Amino acid sequence: MNNKIIIINGPNLNLLGEREQSQYGSITFEKLKENCLQKSKELGLEVEFTQSNIEGELVSLIQKSIKKCDGIIINAAAFTHTSVAIRDALDIFKKPIIEVHISNIYKREEFRQKSLISDIVTGGVFGLGADGYILAIISMQKLLSNEN
Ligand code: DQA
Repeated sequence: MNNKIIIINGPNLNLLGEREQSQYGSITFEKLKENCLQKSKELGLEVEFTQSNIEGELVSLIQKSIKKCDGIIINAAAFTHTSVAIRDALDIFKKPIIEVHISNIYKREEFRQKSLISDIVTGGVFGLGADGYILAIISMQKLLSNEN
C-alpha cells in the first residue's frame, strides 16, 4: 500500500504563531502538526511530520525518504528561494511531491517570487494559510491511490 508520507518543514516554521502573523496567521507549529496528523490518519496515510533549520538536515531527510516514503509534502521556507541542494535531492525522489507555502510568495518581495523547486514538483499550494497543508494531504492521498 502506498500510504507513507513525510511532511518536511524548513527554517523558522517552528516559530509559527510567533513570527509575522500578518503573513503566516496565528496557528502554532504544534497545532499545525496536530491538524496534519489528524487529517492524514483520517485519510489512511502514515505520516512523519518534520522540521529543521539546517539545509543539510533537510537534504538528508529527503534522501532517507527515497527508500521509506511514497510522497513528500514540503515547505522548504526560505530555502525554497536559495537551495540547489534541496532541489537536487527532491529531483532524485521519483514519486509525488507537493510544495506548500502558507503565504502567497508571488505577492511578496521579489526574492521570494522565485522557487527553485516548483518546476520539479508534482504540484503546489500557496497563499491559503495553514490550510494549504491540509489541501496538500488530501491531494497526496488521491495521487497515491491514483484517484486524481
Ligand atoms: C514560506 C515563504 C518563504 O518565503 C519564507 O521564507 C518562509 C515561509 C511560506 O510558507 O509562506 O519561511 O515558505
